[in-house]
Amino acid sequence: MADLKVKFCGKEFSNPTVLASGVLGVTAASWKNVVSSGAGGITTKSVWFNEHKGHPNPTIITTPSYMMNAVGLPDAGVEKAKSEINEYLKAKPAPLIVSIVGGRTDEFVKIAEQIAQLDIDIIEVNISCPNVESEFGKPFACVADDAKTVTAKVKAAVKKLNPNISVIVKLSPNTEDIVKIANSCAQAGADGFCLINTLGPGLAINLETRMPILANKVGGISGPAIKPLAVKLVNDVFRAVKLPIIGTGGVTTGEDALEMMMAGAILVGVGSAVYYRGIDCFSKITNEMNEWCDKNGVKSLTEIIGSVKR
Ligand SMILES: Cc1cc2nc3c(=O)[nH]c(=O)nc-3n(C[C@H](O)[C@H](O)[C@H](O)COP(=O)(O)O)c2cc1C
Repeated sequence: MADLKVKFCGKEFSNPTVLASGVLGVTAASWKNVVSSGAGGITTKSVWFNEHKGHPNPTIITTPSYMMNAVGLPDAGVEKAKSEINEYLKAKPAPLIVSIVGGRTDEFVKIAEQIAQLDIDIIEVNISCPNVESEFGKPFACVADDAKTVTAKVKAAVKKLNPNISVIVKLSPNTEDIVKIANSCAQAGADGFCLINTLGPGLAINLETRMPILANKVGGISGPAIKPLAVKLVNDVFRAVKLPIIGTGGVTTGEDALEMMMAGAILVGVGSAVYYRGIDCFSKITNEMNEWCDKNGVKSLTEIIGSVKR
């Protein structure tokens, strides 16, 4: 059996699989259930400051090669999130990453100030939402200066309240130059990255009605189809910016997770695979990683991080 333990931003994870943000509920009970099913860590659904309504149903399509969702980041707000986080922290079976989201920089800071009062491990800044203060309302993830400002302000607020909490930024693939965005966040003090968020938006059409299947018409693409893009972008950011990465996007098997680590990820986010393989996809993935390590004489997973030859 190989040693699957990894260290990310100074925190120890029993194995590299981490529940990706937005998948499997928002309660302490569901996070604990995911850890019991083999996950090495948990990322919460993105938390807004106030209650945030999502999009109407249908919101999710699942096909063998991809999923598409337009859930629209529904959330009950930071107070509710805090009570669930406190419940989880009573036992804390695995490290907790709290994802935060907002439409304005000051909203991100207000949520971070609330969350940083708790004994959590990492704050993940989801910058994929449109910046309502910018001239064209582009997502923070697409404008280097906006990504830099929000990272700097969240990092400063968190550092003041609880310097043990690391601040990582969740990057979007829907930008011309992800390395430029990553570099801006690094200059602003980011401690690491999670990438990628969903790709798109995409459109799926019902042939009978000739209507879009999703009520929101378009949605973000995840699952197996986006894995090669995720692996490439993880490797691009790994080579350009020397900060730890959670590689996310289409990881469904142990082989996928190993590929993500060879590209440069330390942790591997697992989201859509829960729909494809069930909640125990985490233990299935780690068992498969273990089998591969045994066959290939790898004693510790840390040996393979960033080992791709390019
Ligand atoms: C139903 C659904 C909801 C999601 N909600 C969030 C969210 O709240 N915040 C976020 O940063 N990413 C969210 N994501 C994106 C995932 O965290 C992940 O980045 C993406 O799905 C790619 O990984 P996967 O292919 O393993 O699903 C969501 C994805 C899905 C499928």
